[in-house]
Amino acid sequence: MLDKKNILIGVTGGIAAYKVVEVASLLKKSGANVKIMMTKHATEFVSPRTFQEITNNAVSVEMFGDAANFHVAHIGLANFADLILIAPATANFLAKMAHGIADDLLTTTILAFDGKILVAPSMNTKMYENPATQANLSVLKARGVQILEPNVGILACGTVGKGRLPEPTEICAQIEKFFAQDKILAGKKVVVTAGGTIEAIDPVRYIGNRSSGRMGYEIAKSAVNAGAEVVLVSGNSNLEPPNGLKKFFKVESALEMREKVLNEFETADCVIMSAAVADYRVKTPAAQKIKKSAENLTLELVKNPDILKELGALKKNQILVGFAAETQNILEYARKKLVEKNLNFIVANDVTAEGAGFAVKTNIASIIWRNGEVENFSKMTKADLAEKIVLRVSIILNQ
Ligand code: C5P
Repeated sequence: MLDKKNILIGVTGGIAAYKVVEVASLLKKSGANVKIMMTKHATEFVSPRTFQEITNNAVSVEMFGDAANFHVAHIGLANFADLILIAPATANFLAKMAHGIADDLLTTTILAFDGKILVAPSMNTKMYENPATQANLSVLKARGVQILEPNVGILACGTVGKGRLPEPTEICAQIEKFFAQDKILAGKKVVVTAGGTIEAIDPVRYIGNRSSGRMGYEIAKSAVNAGAEVVLVSGNSNLEPPNGLKKFFKVESALEMREKVLNEFETADCVIMSAAVADYRVKTPAAQKIKKSAENLTLELVKNPDILKELGALKKNQILVGFAAETQNILEYARKKLVEKNLNFIVANDVTAEGAGFAVKTNIASIIWRNGEVENFSKMTKADLAEKIVLRVSIILNQ
């Protein structure tokens, strides 16, 4: 269920820390990679060694503990985590988090983290109900932190009231629920094309282009992660196809790519054409290797079908996304294609800009919508851009 999810648990100094050993164990059994950060006070309740044995990972406590191996631990831990759970969260911790105080490894890591945080407060009822604690919880909620309400029951101090840490199974269920929401394309079929097509001249040579396939492979990966059934039709590329694809077709020419895409189109919910399809092919490729003899060699080229334009004419409910890799007048050309090819949106980029274009891992792109709206993005990894594209597709599909 939580296969390969990276979960960071922050344990603060409350007696319920012992229950979090069970939480870590359940998450691990569910397939997650679990790391633990403890405040100093937490180590009074449970030994870091216990967590270390359960998670099979080193437990972090000290900000500057191991000077020899210091490599900005808080940033490393923040980058590691897909989700941070704080359990138990003491009143003191909630106060620090609400005010952005960063005076130990846990609070500093949290400030360096911009993903999902789940907080499970646990304390004496009066401390929990104290207006100061309640105000801190309100601040955290307003910032998007998810609070797991404590249960009512017998507390360690002997009183009965609200303040018990939820049971470990309940905490794990909340975490699983969060990751299930990630599957924004569950049940949807997405066809992605990537790489450049190759147009044969003879059995040895071809006309090709500089596309590496990276953008399309990242889109396919992102769509798989979003729970879609993904068909990747790849032209020329040296990349390894991502895990979890429903189908993978390696093709050479534009005509082959067209055939595969058309076969998948009717049952598709979305087609994202990031492939650099050759506009022309050699009219009659030579059956044998062309020998070097004449001073001049003329190749007759004929126009390839525009696959995306064809899909645009055929489309019923499918979402169509195109790319416009340009070297000038980017927005103008992109807008024209958006309309001509009947797309939902188009991703435009200047392939000559530094940090954009072929082979590099980053891109600088704009997304242009039918209503004229333009989203301009700064330089980002192709993986991040892929996520933005997939998110937008899911928003249209789930409307
Ligand atoms: O017209 P242009 O080639 O610039 O359009 C780019 C978009 O159209 C890309 O999404 C590309 O994958 C797609 N395309 C296509 N078939 C072609 C040429 C481009 O599907 N023959």
